[in-house]
Amino acid sequence: MCGIIGFTGRREAAPILMDGLKRLEYRGYDSAGLITGTGNSLHLRKKAGRLAELGKVLGGQPAPGTFGISHTRWATHGGATDANAHPHLSADGSIAVVHNGVIENYQQLKHQLQADGVTFHSETDTEVIVHLIAHYYQGDLLHAVRQTVELLKGTYGLAVVSKHEPDVLVGARLGSPLVIGIGDDGTYLASDATALAGYADKVVYLNDRQICQLDPDNWVIRNQDLDTVDEPVRDIAHYLGDYDAEKGDYPHYMLKEIYEQPDAVANAMRGRLDQGDCTAHFGGLNLTSQQLRGTERIVMTACGTSYHAGLVGEYLFEELARLPAEVEYASELRYRNPPMSRDTVVLAITQSGETADTLAALKEAKRMGHTSLAICNTVGSSIAREACGGVYLHAGPEIGVASTKAFTSQCTVLAMLALYFGRTRHLSAVQGQKIIDDLHALPDAVRAALRCHDRVKELANRYGDMHNCLYLGRQYLYPAALEGALKLKEISYVHAEGYPAAEMKHGPIALVDQDTPSVFLVPRGNVFDKVMSNMQEIKARGGPVIAVCSEGDKEVEAVADDVVTVPDVPEYLQPIVCSIPLQLFAYEVAVLRGCDVDKPRNLAKSVTVE
Ligand code: AGP
Repeated sequence: MCGIIGFTGRREAAPILMDGLKRLEYRGYDSAGLITGTGNSLHLRKKAGRLAELGKVLGGQPAPGTFGISHTRWATHGGATDANAHPHLSADGSIAVVHNGVIENYQQLKHQLQADGVTFHSETDTEVIVHLIAHYYQGDLLHAVRQTVELLKGTYGLAVVSKHEPDVLVGARLGSPLVIGIGDDGTYLASDATALAGYADKVVYLNDRQICQLDPDNWVIRNQDLDTVDEPVRDIAHYLGDYDAEKGDYPHYMLKEIYEQPDAVANAMRGRLDQGDCTAHFGGLNLTSQQLRGTERIVMTACGTSYHAGLVGEYLFEELARLPAEVEYASELRYRNPPMSRDTVVLAITQSGETADTLAALKEAKRMGHTSLAICNTVGSSIAREACGGVYLHAGPEIGVASTKAFTSQCTVLAMLALYFGRTRHLSAVQGQKIIDDLHALPDAVRAALRCHDRVKELANRYGDMHNCLYLGRQYLYPAALEGALKLKEISYVHAEGYPAAEMKHGPIALVDQDTPSVFLVPRGNVFDKVMSNMQEIKARGGPVIAVCSEGDKEVEAVADDVVTVPDVPEYLQPIVCSIPLQLFAYEVAVLRGCDVDKPRNLAKSVTVE
């Protein structure tokens, strides 16, 4: 997703802007640009493609100056071209804007501006913003920005500079995050605190409909009436923790994050399992005992991998808490408007906390008066701030676009939430303690599952040139099958589909041939025999079978073409453990195929547009 960095201070801005953009590369983009200022001159450099392309432009044409703004763009309106890259300039070149978000009424605004004689040089929605600011500018940039944003429908995180006001940055936020950084060398503006690590000591997040103005030594946040507002100033570590944002010895962030999972699931549980009451406790859930007891249904909402975690959550809440639960795609829920009784709790599940559809679905639930919670990995994110309460994953920033440790941490938190709700209903202390014991053993089980890596590499070498792949599982492992398929799709570009194993007979089995491997999730459990039958059905049609099964399972080894083993865990924790080989399989296939594992084509880490 798009990234914004701004700086005004006592150092050359361009290197800081470029370094900040590098830290936001993982979010996905297709062009980049920056503009710096010296006195009342602005120096614009922008280029389609990777940051390295912009670096080449700067090598030939440095951008001097101690203030500036920069942007990585993930195309929404208009292709990835130099002209569409941000920053965008006013007609006289005196004002520049970078923008995250989508302006829904930009066509109408564009037509009005064109009727006034304004000439556009890009296909973007963003360009209307800079022309409006220029239209309203009468010597006060903040006022001009305020008048402009009142006309905008949609979402924006903005950073604006003008040659008329050297050293001044103006920012504005609605639905797309913006954070002020305070450092020794000056002040910063960014779409994500991770870009400010090492520069800013303290950060202040803007809220929706707030505008800020920065200069090298001061910053102020104002509401739309231009009254000064006080927002909490926090150490940047509060948002980033002690996470080491570098890859270390790993070739890719994704591999590092796969191997971080034993610690990630341990961190998700840290301080939350209560041996005394045989339940789980959460500091920020903010549920009264009446709300807790009164909950009759849970509707989860999410996108992508987080949606798959929600599918695991359905089984967890039903089995451990006997609570009706379903997960809805956020993009569907927000417009479907299903009948939900007052005692329905809505739970958003998200890694980034900035997914536009998930945020919108949560806001709609909150507007309807439902208790709205969130499971989130990004402290201070829009969804974390919108929810009435929730649970942070504490997984550390997830840089790889393909979600791994966030998924297993989400499933871990959902298991604890199911325990929490269950213990206020029918779960006995003994049952609660058993679940706690299972969870305490989980990090070691995940660590043991990672031992399959060499075996998975062999399978990637064997199947790496496949064009299609099926993933099959039942019950708790059906969501894991979907997630395994998504992993393969999104980083190796191999077509893959996940299905409930029994569903194969209702059509998809027509896809089976000797070139289409089927990955079966078949550790020992209540439906083991059923899944074995499904595996036989595939084998009978000449389809190769890769089985993820329990260690030493001779029955599976006798049928499957290849097996990968995982340690035995209770069925409700199998999605976590079985996902490890699937993540590694997708990773190794992607590496074999020369794909950009951490920044797959067309994808963004956080989809902050609809
Ligand atoms: C998963 O690998 C993808 N990166 C994507 O599906 C992601 O899970 C989805 O966009 C939701 O993101 P969120 O968890 O940050 O809301």
